[in-house]
Amino acid sequence: MNTPITTFVKNYALSSSVRLHMPGHKGVSLFGGELYDITEVDGADVLYSAKGIILESEMNATALFGSAKTLYSTEGSSLSIRAMMHLVKTYALSTNRDAKVIAYRNAHKTFVSASALAGVDVKWLYSTENSILSCKIDLSTLESAIINENPVAVYVTSPDYLGHIEDVKSLADVCHRHGVLLLVDNAHGAYLKFAKDGAHPLDLGADLVCDSAHKTLPCLTGSAYLHVGKTAPDFFKDNAENALSLYASTSPSYLILQSLDNFNKLITDTTSYFDNTARLVEGLKAKLASLNYDVVGNEPLKITLATKSFGYLGGEVASILKDGGVVVEFADDDYVTMMFSPCNTHLDFERTESALTALAPKKSILTTPPHSPILKQGMPPKEAIFAPCESVAVKDSLGRILSSPTVSCPPAIPVAVCGEIINEDAVKCFEYYHINTILVVKE
Ligand SMILES: Cc1ncc(COP(=O)(O)O)c(C=O)c1O
Repeated sequence: MNTPITTFVKNYALSSSVRLHMPGHKGVSLFGGELYDITEVDGADVLYSAKGIILESEMNATALFGSAKTLYSTEGSSLSIRAMMHLVKTYALSTNRDAKVIAYRNAHKTFVSASALAGVDVKWLYSTENSILSCKIDLSTLESAIINENPVAVYVTSPDYLGHIEDVKSLADVCHRHGVLLLVDNAHGAYLKFAKDGAHPLDLGADLVCDSAHKTLPCLTGSAYLHVGKTAPDFFKDNAENALSLYASTSPSYLILQSLDNFNKLITDTTSYFDNTARLVEGLKAKLASLNYDVVGNEPLKITLATKSFGYLGGEVASILKDGGVVVEFADDDYVTMMFSPCNTHLDFERTESALTALAPKKSILTTPPHSPILKQGMPPKEAIFAPCESVAVKDSLGRILSSPTVSCPPAIPVAVCGEIINEDAVKCFEYYHINTILVVKE
């Protein structure tokens, strides 16, 4: 597979042209990488009005992911999510429907701000089976909600932060049976296209999907995709680029674009790129389970331990691992999450295993994390975001209306969202996650 962006930038760097354009470093290496950090010079194409090398590279990605259209983001899945909400709003307007989305409550905070600002009405589905970080919903509950609410789309996060993958095929079937789109935040699952046959949401019927390439592929931070699925109406293919451009910087990073471009070649040349790592992760999971660790989730490249049954807080395990030179992705009182990729070596696995094997189990800690509090809406979300606001101590927040887009527990998952009235369950939840102050609407 060709790498049009990388090749162009390499040739430009070799040409030793006098750079009388941005960026100000002029290709001089002061920090590292500046030589290849260019802007939209002649021939470099324009992201979101792509007709040249970027279009060619995005078409390579489209073919690899098997989408109707794959577009690049140099500003993470966050940008893709903003574009998705914009598309939902404009699609609803163009089809004379209410811009309403049913969303699983463990959505990332960007979804909350993006839907509020785009004027998309969100009907939340809550789970009482797990902590705030996950959201297990029966298909029958989802189907009833679709029938009652008549939304344009359903929005789910899969995989979630802890590594649970939803049954996207069944979700898509339910949605499509009722003429509803399925949108998947697959920020953590770009690699599923290549690690597990048919496990990417696009293969399972999702209509719009965002992937953070930087989270699981060997790509630079900020690299991401917006995919339009083959099942989505043509409206999305035709309007996705414009939706991204509305929210994006006009100075995309060509380092990030090269990183995305380069991955197309890497995965074409090495189709089994993730296989060995997936095997090593599976082996480590089995070893940890045999030591009585509670291993949760079903993601092939992520290991999450629910640590309390082993006698430790997640943060304690994370700091023991850190003492052993291993830095994890995430830890709170309940969980520690480790993310692996083919760029991790055998030695990385060995160091992780030996640090965890050395830990002696202790008496279980019996406290459990709270469920998502169910909160009443006191004000439309967008009104709450723009209302005059003030900071109050959580202990004084009962009955107040939240102004900030979300108050989130550590991996940016909302405890409360803008416009909601804080109740006792929310206060308990804030306290559990050590949140001391929140931004509320001024009275
Ligand atoms: C589930 C989920 N969705 C979206 C995002 C935003 O992704 P990005 O950091 O690529 O903008 C994150 C970030 O951690 C996330 O965990």
